[in-house]
Amino acid sequence: MSRYLVTAALPYANGPIHIGHLAGCYLPADIFVRYQKLCGKDILFICGSDEHGVPITIKARNEGITPQQVVDKYHTLMKNAFADFGIAFDHYSRTSAPLHHQTAADFFKTLYDKNVFIEEVTQQYYDDEVNQFLADRYIVGTCPVCANTNAYGDQCENCGTSLNPTDLINPKSKLSGKAPVLRETKNWFLPLDQYQEALTKWINSHENDWKPTVYGQCFSWLNQGLQKRAMTRDLNWGVKVPIPNTDGKVLYVWFDAPIGYISATKELMNLRNQPDAWKDYWQNADTKLLHFIGKDNIVFHCLIFPAMLMAHQQFILPQNVPANEFLNLEGQKISTSRNWAVWLHEYLSDFKNKQDELRYVLCAIAPETKDADFSWKDFQARVNNELVAILGNFVNRTLVLTHKFFDGKVPATEPLQPIDEIALQSIAYAYAEVSKKINEFKFRDALTEVMNLARAGNKYLADTEPWKLFKTDTGTVATILHTSLEITAHLAVICQPFLPNTAAKIFGMLNINPLQLSTYNANVIKVGHQLNQPGLLFEKIEDDAIQAQIDRLHAAPIADSNHSQSAINALKPQTTFDDFTKMDLRIATITSAVAVPKTEKLLQLTLDTGNDTRTVVSGIALHHKPENIIGKQVVLLANLAPRKIKGIESHGMILMAEDADGSLKFVSTDVFTTNGSTVA
Ligand code: MF3
Ligand code: ZN
Repeated sequence: MSRYLVTAALPYANGPIHIGHLAGCYLPADIFVRYQKLCGKDILFICGSDEHGVPITIKARNEGITPQQVVDKYHTLMKNAFADFGIAFDHYSRTSAPLHHQTAADFFKTLYDKNVFIEEVTQQYYDDEVNQFLADRYIVGTCPVCANTNAYGDQCENCGTSLNPTDLINPKSKLSGKAPVLRETKNWFLPLDQYQEALTKWINSHENDWKPTVYGQCFSWLNQGLQKRAMTRDLNWGVKVPIPNTDGKVLYVWFDAPIGYISATKELMNLRNQPDAWKDYWQNADTKLLHFIGKDNIVFHCLIFPAMLMAHQQFILPQNVPANEFLNLEGQKISTSRNWAVWLHEYLSDFKNKQDELRYVLCAIAPETKDADFSWKDFQARVNNELVAILGNFVNRTLVLTHKFFDGKVPATEPLQPIDEIALQSIAYAYAEVSKKINEFKFRDALTEVMNLARAGNKYLADTEPWKLFKTDTGTVATILHTSLEITAHLAVICQPFLPNTAAKIFGMLNINPLQLSTYNANVIKVGHQLNQPGLLFEKIEDDAIQAQIDRLHAAPIADSNHSQSAINALKPQTTFDDFTKMDLRIATITSAVAVPKTEKLLQLTLDTGNDTRTVVSGIALHHKPENIIGKQVVLLANLAPRKIKGIESHGMILMAEDADGSLKFVSTDVFTTNGSTVA
């Protein structure tokens, strides 16, 4: 029998879960898995905390605690929040588990013994004040592409370019703030170029079943030509490199983390006393392996991990990687450092027993094909106008009327009329559509089909008006309510994957056991069956509850270690007066500003410098609307060498101050000054 193995990206254990994570992969994966389980499929849902990587060690250092303490804290927080929210993993593990270390080390050793890796000595940045190599995010500097001064050694978060530490201009160590030195070190590289052909062939074979966005991103990487990538790091936190004389070296976090899916499956099967059963899920071609992830993880799950699996030769490859795009919040990118997020554990404590409301809204707006936006007002509107007014209303009216007219006992039907038949047909239709959409990973559409069944139920009641007929035509009322109860039962069945608590409540009120979903069985409601007392499925969300959330979001970020990064940057190394006077700083006025197409953060500015009119590209779009800054005077670094940014030649750079909350403020003059005035 065929089986499924579903994974959801292992979240980094350096911060809590927010709605972007949920909408990105955990909720769709959960809906998929719940659905397949209700259809009786053999399916496992695997996840766990990703506990390695540089950001965790930096956080530990900033907070004066050990990396282990950081991951213990967030592992527990995330695990509990997922469980409370109803993400029903079969197993939630963690990559600091000894079984994981062993599994990842064995995997590396297998590739090493097969001579897969290229061993190479390269020059890497080293901080000689703290005697440590500076991997990935230990190093910051100016992005060569967009001039963001806070780019990391592995990536610039301003323009999204992926970088090597040596690409950075003016690199400095996150540890001492000093300029690093280059030192030789040996690392092991995965020659991705050697897998280019096999990967291309494999991804091509999925042209028609993978999402266009996923397939497209893979091809843009492949078209650039894959390059070797280091699979080890000079760091102390992680899985030790399992070969002799490699003290102070660990596996690259993106090497060990996806192996976490394998070790978590092993751990689960050990708990089930079937220590070999994990192989059925990882090494048997009948298994469909599905990775649910966010779009920033595509390259790792579609190219690097598959290349590792190919190199190992004993594993199956993923059948699909249904990656979602990003979820924004109130029109802005979700940001942990700016505390611009809705944290799951906070939602769960503010909105007790309203898990399904959030599941509903996040599924209804899920960023399946493009980025989407969550807003609190929209959340309120969807709960009140859809869950309360459509689903809740139909179920409630049906149950209340049955209690009122028939003492809560399911009445017998008279011969059905066309209008009753049509109402019943919408059940089978909903089953078929939900199945089709879920198997295509179109969870928004599937949820719409569930709601359409509730809409059909409401329409049926509105058209037949049973409350008006009871005195004159009891038989017709009996038929209508029996039919409505049948629809109610099936609504409970098909809403289970999306709204598990709501489904359980409906089954409870109907006084029936939860039903399987695989195929539609007519007549699940039996004549004479006694129903329980109805209660409300959902309550309206009031304005003040929503306002409180909006206020909290806009409040200044608290200097809480959960949310803020270290606020003050270390001093740069000493400079000289001569160096300073080489910079031509002067006052200029912004005369026009437009967003740079296809970027989030860049504005193209025109500046009047007193001497000339020039173009400057500036990464301030998330902080300032173009229309609000025209006429503003700014300080310009006027003699910076021109550089091309997104095809636009930028002549200079405007000075901005970064506040503790991460917002960018203009460094401007306090009185109106003539353009061209110098600053010194
Ligand atoms: N921790 C990564 C992130 O949050 C995801 C890791 S997925 C895995 O982006 F495959 F590596 F586990
Ligand atoms: Zn950049």
